[in-house]
Amino acid sequence: MTYKIVIQPSAHQLDVDENETILDAALRHGFSFPYGCRGGACGACMGKVVSGSIDYRGDRPRGISDQEEIAGQVLFCQAYPSSDLEIEVHEILAQEEIRVKTLPVRLAHKEKLTHDIMRLKLQLPQSERLQFLAGQYIDILLADGRRRAFSLANAPHDDEYLELHVRHVEGGEFTDKVFDSLQEKSLLRMEGPHGDFFLREESERPMILIGGGTGFAPLKGIIEHALASDHHRPMHLFCGVRAGRDLYMDAMVKGWMQEYDFVQYTPVLSEPSDEDKWSGALGFVHQEVLKQYQNLVDFDIYMSGPPIMVKTARDAFREQGVADENMFYDSFDYAADTLKKIEEGAD
Ligand code: FES
Repeated sequence: MTYKIVIQPSAHQLDVDENETILDAALRHGFSFPYGCRGGACGACMGKVVSGSIDYRGDRPRGISDQEEIAGQVLFCQAYPSSDLEIEVHEILAQEEIRVKTLPVRLAHKEKLTHDIMRLKLQLPQSERLQFLAGQYIDILLADGRRRAFSLANAPHDDEYLELHVRHVEGGEFTDKVFDSLQEKSLLRMEGPHGDFFLREESERPMILIGGGTGFAPLKGIIEHALASDHHRPMHLFCGVRAGRDLYMDAMVKGWMQEYDFVQYTPVLSEPSDEDKWSGALGFVHQEVLKQYQNLVDFDIYMSGPPIMVKTARDAFREQGVADENMFYDSFDYAADTLKKIEEGAD
């Protein structure tokens, strides 16, 4: 059975399954409810029930007091609907509203995606969850005080693990370790979320998303978030890599395309090998975008990848009349000792 929920003051609406918490349903629909532990302890997910009823399915969680309960307050991470509801909650709309945390994380899974890209799934302590906006990044804190930035490749509603795509950098101490000695169950420390590269949910404009190499990672989070939300709009993903062996999660993206008619995908190879027998798009990824779209002014453009790719694409799109406020960048440097994000403004 499903129940209808109206969220105030936004007047957003969603359907919630009777066996789903209100917070889970809100995140699954792409609404940014505040939360912390997701275990009923911290009180961060508190909001008010204006009409209707909920069920905690057990004892009242310890993160809410008698007075708060009498005042109609509810912990949405523990509350299941038992009728249609009208609720009040402060939906998070900007990254400044999200608390940056420093947390230990355990490496739960490690999987090689290509010859030089590793997927890591990091598990937070049981009592913690990391709130973030789709497309943001975290820093991995190293023992000597240095840090390495990696985009979050999962969407906020799917936050059991934090997913990172790590490219092996020749001479890069941390990525050497990831590829060689880092074992599952190892402990790392992280800080985040950071960054202003995230999905602008208030926009209704169609999206073009351009990823170079592991620049696909934050775009994956953004697309998965957009697909989970009810606000579907056309999106075209362009992935630029050197050769066929560098493309990853290609089958998953093709699956999106089959399932959702508003998703398009163009992989672009700059130097395909003979084995690739490539008959698809060739050259630089931004050139392929310009080939397919003579007019880009009505689009939101998200670009993520090496600085040279981002800068070249941005300059080319500006020349086509795309306004700076409609371009969003996540630019990162792969150099061995300076592996860090360069958050670029629209200068
Ligand atoms: S998120 Fe901590 S109590 Fe709900």
